[in-house]
Amino acid sequence: MGLYVPCFFSFVCFVFWLSFLHHLTVSHHFASSIMQPLCHDDERSALLKFKQSILFGKHYCWDPISYYPKAKSWKLEGGNSSSADCCSWDGVKCDEETGHVIKLDLSSSCLSGSINSTTTLFHLAHLQWLSLAHNDFNYSEIPSTINKLSRLSHLNLSRSVISGQIPPQLLDLHNLVSLDLFDNYYTDIPGNETHYLELQEPSLQNPTYKLTNLKVLNLDKVHISSPIPHMLANLSSLTYLSLQDCGLQGEFPTKIFQLPNLSVLQLSHNSNLTGYLPEFEKTSPLTVLAIAGCGFSGTIPSSLVLSLEACNFSSGQISSSLGNLTQLTYLDLSQRHNKFSSQNSSSLSWIAKNTNLKFLDLSDLNLVGEIPIWLMNLTQLIYLDMGQNQLAGPIPSCLMNINQLSFLYLQSNQLTRNIPSEISNLTRLVDLALSSNSLQGPIPNNIFQLKNLQNLRLQSNNLSGTVEFDMFLSQLESLEILILSSNNLSVLMNNTVANTNSKKFYTIGLRSCNLSNFPNFLRNQDLLRVLDLSSNSITGKIPGWFLNDSVPHLIYLNLSHNLFTEFDQQPNVRPPYLITLDVRYNKLEGPLPVIPLKDMSEYLVSNNKLTGEISPLICESKYLFALDLSNNNLSGVLPQCLANFSDALSILALQSNKFHGSIPQTFMNGSNLKMVDLSNNQLQGRIPRSLVNCTKLVYLHLGNNQITDIFPSWLGTLRELKVLIMKSNRLHGVIKEPEANFEFPKLQVIDLSHNMFRGELPTKHFQSWNAMKVVNGSHPSYMHDEMISNEIFTSFASYEITDYAYSMTISNKAETNESEVIGKSLISTEKSDLSDHLNGKVPTMKTKIHSGMDSRTHYKHNQMEELDGLLKSRPAMADG
Ligand SMILES: *[C@@H]1O[C@H](CO)[C@@H](O)[C@H](O)[C@H]1NC(C)=O
Ligand SMILES: *[C@@H]1O[C@H](CO)[C@@H](O)[C@H](O)[C@H]1NC(C)=O
Ligand SMILES: *[C@@H]1O[C@H](CO)[C@@H](O)[C@H](O)[C@H]1NC(C)=O
Ligand SMILES: *[C@@H]1O[C@H](CO)[C@@H](O)[C@H](O)[C@H]1NC(C)=O
Ligand SMILES: *[C@@H]1O[C@H](CO)[C@@H](O)[C@H](O)[C@H]1NC(C)=O
Ligand SMILES: *[C@@H]1O[C@H](CO)[C@@H](O)[C@H](O)[C@H]1NC(C)=O
Ligand SMILES: *[C@@H]1O[C@H](CO)[C@@H](O)[C@H](O)[C@H]1NC(C)=O
Ligand SMILES: *[C@@H]1O[C@H](CO)[C@@H](O)[C@H](O)[C@H]1NC(C)=O
Ligand SMILES: *[C@@H]1O[C@H](CO)[C@@H](O)[C@H](O)[C@H]1NC(C)=O
Ligand SMILES: *[C@@H]1O[C@H](CO)[C@@H](O)[C@H](O)[C@H]1NC(C)=O
Repeated sequence: MGLYVPCFFSFVCFVFWLSFLHHLTVSHHFASSIMQPLCHDDERSALLKFKQSILFGKHYCWDPISYYPKAKSWKLEGGNSSSADCCSWDGVKCDEETGHVIKLDLSSSCLSGSINSTTTLFHLAHLQWLSLAHNDFNYSEIPSTINKLSRLSHLNLSRSVISGQIPPQLLDLHNLVSLDLFDNYYTDIPGNETHYLELQEPSLQNPTYKLTNLKVLNLDKVHISSPIPHMLANLSSLTYLSLQDCGLQGEFPTKIFQLPNLSVLQLSHNSNLTGYLPEFEKTSPLTVLAIAGCGFSGTIPSSLVLSLEACNFSSGQISSSLGNLTQLTYLDLSQRHNKFSSQNSSSLSWIAKNTNLKFLDLSDLNLVGEIPIWLMNLTQLIYLDMGQNQLAGPIPSCLMNINQLSFLYLQSNQLTRNIPSEISNLTRLVDLALSSNSLQGPIPNNIFQLKNLQNLRLQSNNLSGTVEFDMFLSQLESLEILILSSNNLSVLMNNTVANTNSKKFYTIGLRSCNLSNFPNFLRNQDLLRVLDLSSNSITGKIPGWFLNDSVPHLIYLNLSHNLFTEFDQQPNVRPPYLITLDVRYNKLEGPLPVIPLKDMSEYLVSNNKLTGEISPLICESKYLFALDLSNNNLSGVLPQCLANFSDALSILALQSNKFHGSIPQTFMNGSNLKMVDLSNNQLQGRIPRSLVNCTKLVYLHLGNNQITDIFPSWLGTLRELKVLIMKSNRLHGVIKEPEANFEFPKLQVIDLSHNMFRGELPTKHFQSWNAMKVVNGSHPSYMHDEMISNEIFTSFASYEITDYAYSMTISNKAETNESEVIGKSLISTEKSDLSDHLNGKVPTMKTKIHSGMDSRTHYKHNQMEELDGLLKSRPAMADG
């Protein structure tokens, strides 16, 4: 898997960027050349009050290319209110005659805070067009005062972190032409709490009476949970109706398919929705029909753009009758949930009859066999995705006949042999992913002829040979994402100083590329967001210019497994959007680097030679997920705040340092800690009773300290605890019988050796520790003074960060199998959290994650729209 961070599909970014530039030029032109009346005082003041009531949250704005804080520039020039013409403010448009604000576009403006009935935006009574999409309103509800905007024709609140019931007042806005509340479904990773919009009281039944002008209605992921009213079929102006993943029930009114202007109808992922597809007239304006994961039956119409993703093919084979749809231009059979049974790629040869196909997605279909040669009949293909299958054999060179191909995804298969040099025939290639296969040989030089290439992902193959990195810099001018990691490549760098005009990357992955010097070209990578230089043998200092000046937009930095000795200069202001810092396994000396780390999610500096104390400033990192300072020479007392500074904190690894003093005592309710390792220090005092608040704790290692306490039977309420290691401390006393038999329900590994317990371990403990297998319960001598001499068990945990995803492995000298079991379950817990990070492909802050289900579909639609005007996309209001 490649690094996956929102908007690294640079194509989409590119589009954002263009529209951003467009916006700049338009508003500039607007301000300078058109004379218009000054804006009204009350409206100016409403805008300014709104600005004051919100924050410009960096978290929601880490992607500087698609997001920028428009409203931030709003101000009174020189403090004189009548001199400030709000009509010229960024995002504001006034009526040319009356001077009233009629349009407000604050989409993607980094806004954060709440909207409610006091929000002054709703005083702009002349507003016709309002977009607050792609901001973070902290689960605010839409206030009923929205009805003051009675002239509103366009309202876009998609992806703006709002929740709750949609107020009836919104549905009274009878001038609405376009209503977009798309994708306000969020899961907070820490609490795993979901937030969403609801349309229950009133239900969907009501709005249709008044919204007779509606052309565009997008309620994807709004919780509707009711049948679709037949009334909806009366909205004859509708051109775009999207109700995906809304929990719709009952029978879908067939008449809606026949609405005279309806061009896009998306109903996917409403598993309780039934209905049938009618006969379609040839004149049907439908171009997009998405009914994946619904209970529809009937014949599939031809002359349609079809998305059949996941739709009731859960068992059995894909129907070849689709081969009759010769008009098909878009075919998406990809699966993510329901698996087709494994089938040979040759059985899909009927697809070759659809010679008009431009978009073909056969990913994740459990396909075996080779890449089929029937593909070469599809000469119109622009987009081909066969990733995540089990395709073996070579990449056939005849594939290179499809010369329109711009997007080619073959990643995560079992492809072998060389990358064919004929790849250069695909001159239109924009995105090429061949990662995670078994490809061999060198990267063909012909690849440098692909002048349109923006994304190149070749990681995790067996590619070998040397590559001159300068070729990528000088030959592939469009390249933005380059990942060569984890091959047998030697990447040669000419360490010439890059000039300021050098090409700009978004993502660079050069893990295990035999680098020995810090790359100089990084001096001017001011758009770089992801950098992985791990597992090389780069020596010397981490240069001062690097983090201080060169990469202001970096969000992920992995320099682990190198030979770095120190930070040349402590960065004063670290890259402000940095979320992950991984410098583990180097030879770093000196104090902890790059503090404070306010918005960070992963701070990983273990296995170095760092010295000094932990600054309490670390506790300002309210979003930290993993803190790993283990295996250094750190000393001093642990700041008390370490126990409760971040709701998100899941991994706290401070082992093998020289910390002394007491363990922080105030672990709070709602803690998300899964792993706490404080072993091999000189910690004293008691085991914090507040650890009972860490109900998600899986792994607790306090061994090799000087803790003085009795057996922590209170930890028995931790239902997830699997590993409890207290060895080599000063625990004492008699271990009592458990009070109830649900104590330590999942415990698998316990090590109490080298303490000062008296008496015998109560047998009842062994009976109730159902899950335990490591300790031999038939061994009553276990609890004698001085404990048993041989260590039953020694364990240590380490975890690897791969593309944001942790896997945790526990090595265990005594019981290898056991540790694998534990290791796996830890892996699965960690991955499930982090895969949500990865699925949230839309730019959102890391702690507020979209459930992600539709973002991929959405992405495809965006691409297609750009590619060929093939799909009528979700109406982006930005051009209204
Ligand atoms: C504000 O500016 C306007 C026009 O520039 C001017 O007429 C007015 O006197 C100014 N008011 C103050 C209080 O400076
Ligand atoms: C979000 O709302 C919650 C309570 O509703 C509040 O505690 C929190 O401070 C708010 N966050 C922001 C950034 O406004
Ligand atoms: C309403 O929003 C304002 C500004 O965002 C905020 O200061 C205030 O606390 C909110 N009021 C309520 C009741 O949430
Ligand atoms: C999140 O909550 C759902 C339902 O409550 C549960 O099934 C799921 O396992 C939870 N996920 C995590 C990562 O806790
Ligand atoms: C489908 O209906 C069943 C029975 O009413 C209900 O339990 C289930 O939650 C529904 N599923 C969805 C996705 O709404
Ligand atoms: C294609 O359509 C013809 C009639 O036009 C029909 O006879 C044939 O069975 C169809 N093929 C498939 C595979 O359904
Ligand atoms: C591909 O096209 C060739 C020539 O047009 C034709 O003979 C062949 O049957 C086609 N293959 C398939 C699988 O349709
Ligand atoms: C590549 O392009 C060349 C020149 O256009 C052509 O002769 C050759 O057949 C093509 N090769 C493949 C494998 O498509
Ligand atoms: C890299 O440096 C070597 C020798 O210093 C030179 O021969 C080669 O042309 C350079 N490569 C590029 C792409 O500049
Ligand atoms: C658990 O956390 C709460 C605050 O969230 C705290 O008041 C309580 O004292 C903690 N429990 C223990 C046993 O310390």
